[in-house]
Amino acid sequence: MSYPIARPRRLRTSPAMRRLVAETRLNPAELVLPMFVKEGLTEPRPVPSLPDVMQHSRDSLRKAAAEAVRAGVGGLMLFGVPEKRDATGTGGIDPGGILNVAIRDVIREVGDSTVVMSDLCLDEFTSHGHCGVLDAKGDVDNDATLARYAEMAVAQAAAGVHVLGPSGMMDGQVGVVRKALDSAGYTDRSILAYAVKYASAFFGPFRDAVESQLDGDRRTYQQDPANLHESLREVELDIAEGADMVMVKPGLPYLDVISAIASTVNVPVAAYQVSGEYAMVEAAAANGWIDRERAIMESLTSLRRAGAQIILSYWATEAALKLREQY
Ligand code: PBG
Repeated sequence: MSYPIARPRRLRTSPAMRRLVAETRLNPAELVLPMFVKEGLTEPRPVPSLPDVMQHSRDSLRKAAAEAVRAGVGGLMLFGVPEKRDATGTGGIDPGGILNVAIRDVIREVGDSTVVMSDLCLDEFTSHGHCGVLDAKGDVDNDATLARYAEMAVAQAAAGVHVLGPSGMMDGQVGVVRKALDSAGYTDRSILAYAVKYASAFFGPFRDAVESQLDGDRRTYQQDPANLHESLREVELDIAEGADMVMVKPGLPYLDVISAIASTVNVPVAAYQVSGEYAMVEAAAANGWIDRERAIMESLTSLRRAGAQIILSYWATEAALKLREQY
């Protein structure tokens, strides 16, 4: 008898064999495309630190949304970049504010053919760039911010959005948003809670994309990258407050967190492959240091394998098209 008897390599002998035994498969329906729309633009404008990602005009946003839907993506996540900002982020609440206008545009364009989501946070709309309003000392005022989120949620729901994504990491934000939506009659709108959001260096290019005015950091509200148990607590609270889905963000550096959460909760778990994760692969690929397509698919597969059922990725449209070719 020859040795060894057990030869795991037998299941890796051909592409067909590997396809047969693959434990993780990606599906376009699980991918969500984050998109930026900037007030006042007539042409889309590239974001230098995010190659191929645009600050869209209202027009180009509609076209890119339709293209993503044709590729089969499961959802779109919209971010607005206003022309003017103020201390309390009025532009996020105003029905004529760019994000609310864009929600209406995209809903008109794609209807119910995909799930339209919106970022529910003040940072794009505040002159100081924080996710909430400030108190007299200049600290982010949790409870005063909640009142603004409630108004913002109702404005987004009125614009027709299907899913709201509270991303500001204020305590109690999910409960306040749920209550505001229900009181206004929007019991059918879902909440994708950014339950676990770390104070991460990997958000850098996003801040270019939204022209963030932030000076300083978000460490008094976003989580410390050192902590795992704290993320389980955040998830528990958000589900108790009415979160329909929970998200972990960033993705790749936090696979252990995704895995721990996916094994404990009974709601869909999403992961956000953030701007810095995208930029690293694009930059390395542009230098010829990495195989771009393989790195994209490998990183998406890893997020899925860790337990993310939904993945937000700036590559969503491209990956969806590639997956459709494969199957
Ligand atoms: C806050 C928000 C941020 C991101 C998504 N929502 C930035 C932040 O918290 O500073 C980051 C997304 C990315 O890096 O791709 N509205």
